[in-house]
Amino acid sequence: MSTMNTAGAGQVHVVDHPLVQHKLTLMRQKDRSTNSFRRLLGEISMLMAYEVTRDMPTRMIEIETPLETMQSPVIEGRKTVFVVVMRAGSGFLDGMLEVVPGARVGHIGLYRDPKTLVAVEYYFKMPGDMHERDAIVLDPMLATGNSAAAAVERLKETRPRSIRFVSLLAAPEGLKHFHEAHPDVPVYTAAIDRQLNEHGYIVPGLGDAGDRMFGTK
Ligand code: URA
Repeated sequence: MSTMNTAGAGQVHVVDHPLVQHKLTLMRQKDRSTNSFRRLLGEISMLMAYEVTRDMPTRMIEIETPLETMQSPVIEGRKTVFVVVMRAGSGFLDGMLEVVPGARVGHIGLYRDPKTLVAVEYYFKMPGDMHERDAIVLDPMLATGNSAAAAVERLKETRPRSIRFVSLLAAPEGLKHFHEAHPDVPVYTAAIDRQLNEHGYIVPGLGDAGDRMFGTK
């Protein structure tokens, strides 16, 4: 994983593991089937879950192996909430839950106004104990950064212990915009692409992630 800073000194972690990069290349291909696209996204999300949870605190406990007593690490009792930015964020969820099965799940519904590209909220549901939880926001495409920044702004109202943002692809413009608004929220992504096009799509990108994972185009 390589780490860099963007505007406002926000941190970006690029998950450059060969398995992630290989699967991402397959996902970008325009003729890939919906089924295959969805499966690859699930696999990548599991691999990214390792990176985003890499610094989870542990403590030592005493256990008995069949041979002797030893001190061994377990994850400190920290609570996690995955926050799905609907609808494409749901494609990231199952893989994350495979790795952190005890996590709770919140949802934020935002749509992009096609003319202004501004994010408009239509749904928001979180667990009641957010102040005890580390929040990991899931949204595969960090494009303009408008919906990402709006989702995190709304999430901050619930006062989680910490917030991290996980995307599959990010545009440089989106990262800059996001970190101008939230320099305190690190972003984890598999790749930073060249730019946005005039329709707000990431290029070269992979198209509309929601349409591709649900076969709705
Ligand atoms: N959302 C997508 O699904 N794809 C993009 O390229 C940009 C936003």
